[in-house]
Amino acid sequence: MLPGDALRDAAARWGTPLYVTDLDAAADHLAEYQAAFPGALIAYAVKANPDPQLLRRLVADGAGCEVVTAVELAFAQRAGCPPERIVMNGVGKTDVDHAAAVGAGALLNAESLEELDALLALDAPRIGLRLNPGLAPDTHAHLATGAADSKFGIAWTDLETAIDRCRAAGRRLESVGAHIGSAIDGVQTFTVLAERLAAAAGRAGVERLNLGGGAGIGLSIPALAEAVRPHLPDSTHLVLEPGRSLVADAGWLLTRVVRVQPRPDVGLTYLVADAGMAELIRPILYGADHPVTLLDPGRPLEAGHGTVHLAGPVCEAGDTLAFDIGRWLSPADLARAGTGALIGIGQAGAYGAAMASVYNGRPRPAEAVLDHGEPSLSRRRETLDDMLARDL
Ligand code: LLP
Repeated sequence: MLPGDALRDAAARWGTPLYVTDLDAAADHLAEYQAAFPGALIAYAVKANPDPQLLRRLVADGAGCEVVTAVELAFAQRAGCPPERIVMNGVGKTDVDHAAAVGAGALLNAESLEELDALLALDAPRIGLRLNPGLAPDTHAHLATGAADSKFGIAWTDLETAIDRCRAAGRRLESVGAHIGSAIDGVQTFTVLAERLAAAAGRAGVERLNLGGGAGIGLSIPALAEAVRPHLPDSTHLVLEPGRSLVADAGWLLTRVVRVQPRPDVGLTYLVADAGMAELIRPILYGADHPVTLLDPGRPLEAGHGTVHLAGPVCEAGDTLAFDIGRWLSPADLARAGTGALIGIGQAGAYGAAMASVYNGRPRPAEAVLDHGEPSLSRRRETLDDMLARDL
């Protein structure tokens, strides 16, 4: 349910644009994973939303962290995540990332034979393989990381070579895994993945098997568990790396309408908000359709406003948060969504704040959480001084 009062309260205290994440909603999703996959390591994909209070809560509730850089690793450590629960992926990990993971005691997944050689030369104590299973799930092309032509993971046909290189170096592999993509709403590709990875784990002689993340908001976690379980040996130590499915529907972007721009000759009206593509790039990058709610009315719109789009303030014609918001609002709410209206953009808890930029000189928004319904600030809004701090 929409915590409307708490969101209004947060917007009044810290202004807009503001991201708010409901910690209890995220913790509930984690509990759902833990119930569906007993004994598995649920390594939260930090990239989805590295809010420090969110990380602390998920780690305290038993989650691990999936990280892709030394900086994300530092976030995980600051949140108190023990090293045995940290997994580092990344197709372009640098020496700095490797050193940080080795220093922390995290598992390092090699994503190419070249990286595997580097890890063996480094004598990294905990090495796994991220494989490319050649599976293209039904999702946006930018999000299909398991496809054979994507840059991610060691080619499936190089599995034996990777195993041989580890043996020749006298080293034991800890894990094999893959991450096939994101925003996947069906279980079918995960089933095939589980089957293939179980075979790969058998060949590599490892019991730890990493199915990656990728569940879309619409995918039932118990159904996912049901679908993959028959393909995994009982001895499997399963790892999952969910991001979106833990936090997406636990977060909102709060924004106010600052200007109404009628286009009567083409039957359109733009509401120009104080957030746009710099704060939430998903609509224009992936065609993502985020739900829109009216939290506080603003000035009435003129009669004959036509189709209403929620646009951002950025100097690009594509800068849109939501097309045709009449699909989401009642006619009465739509009619009151003019200047001053407070609008909540839903399903913004994953890859929202995390992908914000300072384009057009836009300070990155403040980030707050709800903890048992109580709002508290996690990150203040970026200031002009922050933005000037790197200039020499
Ligand atoms: N594991 C690895 C290796 C990943 O690369 C990712 C996400 C995950 C786990 C978590 O995937 P999830 O469960 O969140 O689908 N910016 C895009 C999403 C990019 C996902 C990148 N990798 C978006 O806004 O939809």
